[in-house]
Amino acid sequence: MTEDVTDQVALVTGGGSGIGAGIVRMLAERGLRVVVADIADEPARALAAGIGGLAVHCDVRSLADNRAAVDAAVSTYGRLDVVVLNAGIAEGNSIDDFDEDAYRRAMGVNLDGVVFGLTAALPALRTTGGGRVLAVASLAGLAPVPEDPVYAANKAAVVNFVRSVGPALATEHILVNALCPGYTDTAILGRFRELLVGANWPLMQVKDVVAAAGTVLDSEDGGEAWLIQSGHPAQPYRFRGIPGPKA
Ligand SMILES: NC(=O)c1ccc[n+]([C@@H]2O[C@H](COP(=O)([O-])OP(=O)(O)OC[C@H]3O[C@@H](n4cnc5c(N)ncnc54)[C@H](O)[C@@H]3O)[C@@H](O)[C@H]2O)c1
Repeated sequence: MTEDVTDQVALVTGGGSGIGAGIVRMLAERGLRVVVADIADEPARALAAGIGGLAVHCDVRSLADNRAAVDAAVSTYGRLDVVVLNAGIAEGNSIDDFDEDAYRRAMGVNLDGVVFGLTAALPALRTTGGGRVLAVASLAGLAPVPEDPVYAANKAAVVNFVRSVGPALATEHILVNALCPGYTDTAILGRFRELLVGANWPLMQVKDVVAAAGTVLDSEDGGEAWLIQSGHPAQPYRFRGIPGPKA
């Protein structure tokens, strides 16, 4: 995103609060016109009004909602360049607290939301001739999380989805990357925040993750999972290669 961005248009899912809201502000400060797509209407509307952008109601679990959000961006601003698939939830259930509804919700928002979001955005990005997509995964997609294994599973799925689609889409100048932040001080931490603070865990601030998101959006590669850990520079995570088959 080192090019002139003043006529560019971004769409941020889950853009009404936390990391998404920070990314919305950062993109608006860079000069992009930003669509704030969220299931929570009021925060999205207030933020969009503050940056002169557009708020759209979107439940990312619905492919139709994702498509409607893209249509709103294109019909209002004429194009789409940047998509941040950030909406997410954490149910916080261990395997002994398994709950089917919570499982479906978490997989729906965290995994379907990314797969549907990219699927919905691709036609508009191809019309533009390229673009950038940032899927907000988590460090939980790279490391085990016994406290919430379903969250770890859907975030790992996002990482491998991005690694799977990234190289081919990069040949079309559509750079798709995953952002994998560690614990960050937002509402999603819920009751877990108290435990982390009590353990003196160095929680990242939204501004730290937003700065890292800016770095990833400026990178010239696709299909990478960027590790964002407190006290470390943002960096693409280097996966150990898989040995090839033996005859
Ligand atoms: N905070 C952390 O420690 C942390 C760490 C790593 C990754 N993440 C990821 O960052 C992303 C943003 O989370 P956050 O920390 O800012 O939390 P947050 O709770 O502040 O923000 C989540 C946003 O997603 C929206 N959302 C929830 N369900 C939705 C749905 N069905 N459709 C559309 N929008 C929906 C919420 O309304 C909210 O605006 C999530 O994907 C989360 O998993 C967070």
